[in-house]
Amino acid sequence: MASGSHRLDRYFSKTLGINRRDVKALLAQGRILIDHQPAADAEQLVDEFSHIAFDERVLQLKLPVYLMLHKPIGILSATTDPRHPTVIDLLQRADKGDLHIVGRLDRGSSGLLLLTNDGRWSRALMAPKLEVPKVYLVTVQNPLTPDYVKAFSDGMYFAYEGITTRPARLEILEERLARVTLVEGRYHQIKRMFGRFRNPVLALHRTAIGNLPLDPALAPGQSRELTPAELKGIRG
Ligand code: URA
Repeated sequence: MASGSHRLDRYFSKTLGINRRDVKALLAQGRILIDHQPAADAEQLVDEFSHIAFDERVLQLKLPVYLMLHKPIGILSATTDPRHPTVIDLLQRADKGDLHIVGRLDRGSSGLLLLTNDGRWSRALMAPKLEVPKVYLVTVQNPLTPDYVKAFSDGMYFAYEGITTRPARLEILEERLARVTLVEGRYHQIKRMFGRFRNPVLALHRTAIGNLPLDPALAPGQSRELTPAELKGIRG
């Protein structure tokens, strides 16, 4: 089933090639189970992760997957690529072909990358209006000054997209090390923002998305599933 919700009678009439009146009869006979419970309402909504059974035959069984990966430098945030190894190549899972990336990192960047097969979740997490913060440690070539803090907070006009970046937080941690918090993800955004100061980014590492920090136990290249508490808390 494609992502999104559908009425149960629509799903069954399409899957079994019967009309919606016949679906009602099956419901009345208790022959349809949704998430292991007999279904009664033809208008009940099902989605790609509903467990759907008919006469004890499982018609649909797909579990949602939510992974955090410590992306190493040099690996592409893509699902396939003819030339470079991708983050999917780092996974050892049979279902890795179903996964997509939630908020890419440049090939030269490292840190927290999320992968999932749940399109609704990833769209919600990355929706600009929700302003889920993404936190980065950024090492630059030249010393930082308070001017950077103001310029990041004021926003910068990106002529290519015709937008002004949302207020971003820059904290100077060391002479050439900053923590930057963005609530959006424009193409090469951090590099372009430091580019305004002609200050090349030497290293870029994402440490958190929303309330979810990169697990320090994960070495570069390693991944694990999110816990239920992490899933629940990521958006705060
Ligand atoms: N900004 C960048 O320039 N690169 C990244 O990978 C992430 C944010």
